[in-house]
Amino acid sequence: MDRIIVQGGEVLNGQVHTSGSKNSALPLLFATLLCDGKFIFKNIPDLKDIDSTRELLGHLGAIAARDGDKYIVSVKDVRDHRAPYDLVRKMRAGILCLGPLLARYGEAIVSLPGGCAIGTRPIDKHLDAMKVLGAELDIQDGYVHAKVKKLRGGNIVFDGVTVGGTENVIMAAVLAEGETIIENAAKEPEVTDLVDLLNKMGAKIQGRTTSILKIQGVEKLCPAEHTVIPDRIEAGTLLIAGAITGGEVTVTNCVPQHLEALTFKMRESGFNISSEADTITVHRCKGWNGTDVTTAPFPGFATDLQAQFMALMTQAEGTSIITESIFENRFMHVQELNRLNANIAHRTQVAVVRGRKGGLKGAPVMATDLRASASLILAGLVAEGETEVARVYHLDRGYERLEKKLESLGAKVSRIRG
Ligand code: EPZ
Repeated sequence: MDRIIVQGGEVLNGQVHTSGSKNSALPLLFATLLCDGKFIFKNIPDLKDIDSTRELLGHLGAIAARDGDKYIVSVKDVRDHRAPYDLVRKMRAGILCLGPLLARYGEAIVSLPGGCAIGTRPIDKHLDAMKVLGAELDIQDGYVHAKVKKLRGGNIVFDGVTVGGTENVIMAAVLAEGETIIENAAKEPEVTDLVDLLNKMGAKIQGRTTSILKIQGVEKLCPAEHTVIPDRIEAGTLLIAGAITGGEVTVTNCVPQHLEALTFKMRESGFNISSEADTITVHRCKGWNGTDVTTAPFPGFATDLQAQFMALMTQAEGTSIITESIFENRFMHVQELNRLNANIAHRTQVAVVRGRKGGLKGAPVMATDLRASASLILAGLVAEGETEVARVYHLDRGYERLEKKLESLGAKVSRIRG
């Protein structure tokens, strides 16, 4: 298993490019199951989760391959409607093939994704929504067996915002008979990116970027070309990398509007942040104050930036109270940050960070999940001495060569192949 070694103390400066969004690319790739033909994508990031999705699509009969800066998906009569456990287990978003397979073939046998480090990750909201559209569902041997003659439109009101649930039911509704209304839909930019692709394919979806989506089912869809939006979580992570070291870093090819909750909190803490059309710059800052954050669905503070922001607050003057309201177990980076001599106490949903500039000391630490691994690397940038982050396969699921990007900004960071 690879490890990442960080020598703390370097100030990061310069420009760094944002890759395409993992959490947008995944549903976009599953949407290709909705019709035959050749899809041409651009800005699909080179990540383990994309490789896992390609493997699952291949198993179903949709062939995906990178061709230069393009990512081609050729779909011809998907023959297998079964998404096996060993593929879905590796990448939970595999559950997103449920909606497209049901819509197109009236049948899907999809492994329950199971939980992960940050929570039990249930899919009850996905399944309840499919039932509203007329699907018959049966759980057997860890698989969802779903079937329907023809999906029909219905009214869905999510009792809690679910990104994947919204994406799954949108992909089911676009080929259903009649109109579907989804209320309390997730408004994440990745959901909007999926709506934009589906409308290019001939779907009739109104209400993009809002929490109420109105979908008129159509008979057929066609393949399309699409460029994936930039990864707002990677962009936020890179911005924090500049901030935590007191440097000046410009993140390019990003969407500042997608990061307003983060930049608001960083400004509140004392940072000077400026932005242009597709860049955000954090300016040099000698010292910043603690500030409180509660994670929330978009446009609130992204739960996927909570761990990274916590690393930043370990260097703040004063205390920060960080409340994680989305997942039930998303503080596993706390004990690892404390191994680096941070001073953080936490209960289930709330962490209290007592900041102290320069207090971190390098040590071996363990990545437990995707965003926690980024948080530990950020902390290593300012810890005295060497920090070794183990189990970085978590990192590779969601970041495209993060250590290379940090190195290009002046960080002393390397990967040891293990
Ligand atoms: C997506 O996960 C993202 N993953 C997550 O990013 C992100 O943290 C999350 O949205 C929240 O923004 C992808 O897009 C591939 P949810 P998803 O359904 O769709 C509960 C990362 O680091 N819930 O919005 O699985 C659930 O337990 C990953 O890139 C139900 O109770 O998240 C959670 O508490 C981590 N029943 C909350 O809702 C359901 O049927 C939000 O989950 C579905 C969800």
